[in-house]
Amino acid sequence: MIEWLTTEVDLDNVPVHVGIIMDGNGRWANARGLHRTQGHAAGEPALFDVVHGALDLGVKWLTVYTFSTENWNRDEYEVEFLMQFNVDLLERRRDELNDLGVRVIFMGDLDDERVPNVLRDRIRDAEDLTKDNTTMTMVFAFNYGGRVEIVEACQAIARGVADGSIDARDVTVDTIAEHLYLPDMPDPDLVIRTSGEQRTSNFLLWEAAYSEYVFTPVLWPDFDRHELARCIGEYQTRDRRFGRAVDGSLGDITE
Ligand code: IPE
Ligand code: IPE
Ligand code: MG
Repeated sequence: MIEWLTTEVDLDNVPVHVGIIMDGNGRWANARGLHRTQGHAAGEPALFDVVHGALDLGVKWLTVYTFSTENWNRDEYEVEFLMQFNVDLLERRRDELNDLGVRVIFMGDLDDERVPNVLRDRIRDAEDLTKDNTTMTMVFAFNYGGRVEIVEACQAIARGVADGSIDARDVTVDTIAEHLYLPDMPDPDLVIRTSGEQRTSNFLLWEAAYSEYVFTPVLWPDFDRHELARCIGEYQTRDRRFGRAVDGSLGDITE
C-alpha cells in the first residue's frame, strides 16, 4: 500500500528498469520569462520526487538522461551551467541518495577533455560512497550518446580481434552487449520522454530495442511521482510481444 498513489498501478508488474529523457526545462523557463538555466534548476526537485516515487514503487534501475553528446552544441553559458549544476547536485544530494540506499553510476564519455575535472572528482566520490547500495541503481547518462557507446564497443571488439583474443566469427549480439558502458545493466523496460517530443535523441539506442515508450506532454520541471505512476500504469496496458504473434490470433493450423 503506497499512501500517495492515486492511479491504478499493479505493484507485481512494475518495470525493473525505467529510463527517462528529462526534456522541456527550457520551455518551462521561457513560459515564465525565466532563463533556460532556471528551468534546469527547477528540474532538480522533480528528479528527486521521481527518485522517491520510483523507490516506493519498487523500480530497481532508474536511468536519467542528463546531458547528451549533442548538448555541447548549446551556448557556452548553458553548457557551463549544466556542468556546474551536476557538481553542485552531487555535493548537495549524494548523502541523501546514499541514505535512501541508492547506488549512483555515471554512464557516458567521462574521458572527454571538455568534462571539468572537478565534476569527474564529484562523480567518483558519489560512485564510491554509494557503491554497495542495493535498493535502486540510479544511472546518470551524462555526456552520453547511444551511437558513441556502440562505436566504443566496436572499437574494443576490433582491438580484441587484432590482438587475437576475439575471433571475428564469434562476435554476436551478446559480444556487443558485453562491451557497452554498463554490461550488467538490464535493458530498460520503459522509456519515458517528457515535453511532448517523440524521438530518442540518441538515448540507449542499443538497450532500448524492445523498450516500451511513453510520451507525456508534461514539461520536466512539472513531472513528479504521480506522473511517473501514471506512465507506469500506461506501460502496464501494453502487450510486450518481442516479435511473437498477438495472443489468440487466427493462424494456428493445429486448431
Ligand atoms: C532538457 O531540457 C535538459 C537538457 C537537455 C539538459 P531542455 O533544455 O532540452 O528543454 P527544452 O527542450 O529546450 O524545452
Ligand atoms: C535530449 O534532449 C537530451 C537530454 C534530455 C539530456 P534534447 O532537448 O537535447 O533533445 P533534442 O535536441 O530536442 O532532440
Ligand atoms: Mg530539449
